[in-house]
Amino acid sequence: QLEYSLRPQSLSQYIGQHQVKDNLKIFIEAAKQRQECLDHVLLYGPPGLGKTTLATVIANEMGVQVRMTSGPAIERPGDLAAIVSSLEPGDVLFIDEIHRLPRAIEEVLYPAMEDFCLDIVVGKGPEARSIRLDLPPFTLVGATTRAGALSAPLRDRFGVLLRLEFYDEEALAQIVIRSGHLFGVEMDETAAYEIARRSRGTPRIANRLLKRVRDYAQVIGDGQISLPLAQQALELLQVDPLGLDHIDHKLLMAMLERFRGGPVGLDTLAASIGEERVTIEDVYEPYLLQIGFVQRTPRGRIATALAYEHFGITPQQT
Ligand code: ADE
Repeated sequence: QLEYSLRPQSLSQYIGQHQVKDNLKIFIEAAKQRQECLDHVLLYGPPGLGKTTLATVIANEMGVQVRMTSGPAIERPGDLAAIVSSLEPGDVLFIDEIHRLPRAIEEVLYPAMEDFCLDIVVGKGPEARSIRLDLPPFTLVGATTRAGALSAPLRDRFGVLLRLEFYDEEALAQIVIRSGHLFGVEMDETAAYEIARRSRGTPRIANRLLKRVRDYAQVIGDGQISLPLAQQALELLQVDPLGLDHIDHKLLMAMLERFRGGPVGLDTLAASIGEERVTIEDVYEPYLLQIGFVQRTPRGRIATALAYEHFGITPQQT
């Protein structure tokens, strides 16, 4: 599977996120020296920055297996019991979107995380009783786009909290070059940097753009990715020089024109462009905040002078 093979398998292959890697290296080494399993890890940050990849890397570095699931997939305590009771000692259990875990499941998870046991209620009414299930020690790796959405008791049970940051241009270019090698495609370094600049600090976007540019090179060109070819392809994809796409544009234009730069509430903004509030909050807004196009204020979101400049619009006097 190509998508999977793009993912780095070890910390040494993993590009960028130096703070995260430097910390993890130490915690992994220490746990291995003590022959213990790694403490539970919470990974948080915007989508596409490599949380799932990192869970796999952690398991590889610890020399254990990883089981993957997600918060919404675990509906009943029995679902969780089935997963954790099938783990081998030291295994990694990865729960993506852990903030969407039902509250009832969270309560079952606490003793599993703290004491490696499960208290499961079986039967109904007067027949109901609780049975205790001992579990192999395991490492829970939770991932979420927002640590703030996690309940405090759950958050407190993670020993390692790691925030993934947007990647800089250099790191993204190295990722694009690495993926290009894995695809066996010839690419100029300047083209890799062009793709990197338009990837919103996000490897998932960089790899997606690379695939589409490669398609373009194959059909329109001679298979090689030169800088002009990459630029043409990216233009056709409607990715602007900062990597902003159609929805970023819709969002910013609504702020600039309909709401005269704001402040505008998130719900109002979401309704006006027909997107979900959480999609804006988790997917679109983080990068716009990062590049300083949008600011959060107590009265709502405002667009900055940088946003006006990018679109060549003069702020209206009110
Ligand atoms: N592919 C996607 N993310 C990556 C990363 N951080 N390092 C190397 N390759 C990647």
